[in-house]
Amino acid sequence: MTVHFIGAGPGDPELITVKGRRLIAGCPVCLYAGSLVPEAVVAAAPPDARVIDTAPLDLEQIMEEIASAHAKGLDVARVHSGDPSLYGAIAEQIRRLAAMDIPYDITPGVPAFAAAAAAMGRELTVPGVAQTLILTRTAMKSSAMPDGEDLATLGRTGATLAIHLSVRNLLHIERELSPFYGVDCPVVVAYRVGWPDERFLRGTLADIRGWVRAEKLTRTALIFVGRALEAEGFPDSSLYDPASPHVLRPRARKNSRGL
Ligand SMILES: C[S@@+](CC[C@H](N)C(=O)[O-])C[C@H]1O[C@@H](n2cnc3c(N)ncnc32)[C@H](O)[C@@H]1O
Repeated sequence: MTVHFIGAGPGDPELITVKGRRLIAGCPVCLYAGSLVPEAVVAAAPPDARVIDTAPLDLEQIMEEIASAHAKGLDVARVHSGDPSLYGAIAEQIRRLAAMDIPYDITPGVPAFAAAAAAMGRELTVPGVAQTLILTRTAMKSSAMPDGEDLATLGRTGATLAIHLSVRNLLHIERELSPFYGVDCPVVVAYRVGWPDERFLRGTLADIRGWVRAEKLTRTALIFVGRALEAEGFPDSSLYDPASPHVLRPRARKNSRGL
């Protein structure tokens, strides 16, 4: 018996891995985080599977379901949104599985930030503009941010930021980041990427809060901040530059006439 943590992707049922879908189809028990995992993904479970939305359950109730499946020798598909390694709360489940000696594995999924970048048609690491992407969140009611991970500290890098779980905290984001990025820095709020009601709001640190308030977006949105979001006129990367040979594309040999 194994507990398979599976990344469901951000919402589009086609953005799950082939392996993730195969595992769901093979497990007699499927526990899924219904607030962010589409029904169409768990529809792949066998017709007689025990399929449970864990959104209304607490951690102990979830672990009881898993322990019960373990006692019967039934594999469990534990389906989380996006990629389970990001704000998936799987660490605490893994700790309990280890204590109960229950085996588990993890199948990655498409994270929301990657799906959003694809939908925007943008690269988030643009040569000469931003070569670092920071996946972060701000502290509101849930877990506090560890020391040194506050926005003001991260903002000093000038990296592209993908801020999770924070669409209600835009005033704080604007205040903390404006000194480093400038009030005219591009911001994109990506709402429910991959779902039928997906939306993208574009603005700057100075005005994005007004746009979000006008559209009444209060949850399931990612906030991207950085100059890479609208960069133009940047240099080509050296990856395909004819003047930058590398091991897979060595410099062309000159012939005997030096050509
Ligand atoms: C609990 S975290 C889960 C993140 C997920 N594990 C991932 O890999 O993207 C939930 C937050 O991720 C972001 N998020 C998740 N799915 C999203 C989607 N489809 N569109 C936009 N943001 C999303 C939002 O910031 C949301 O508040």
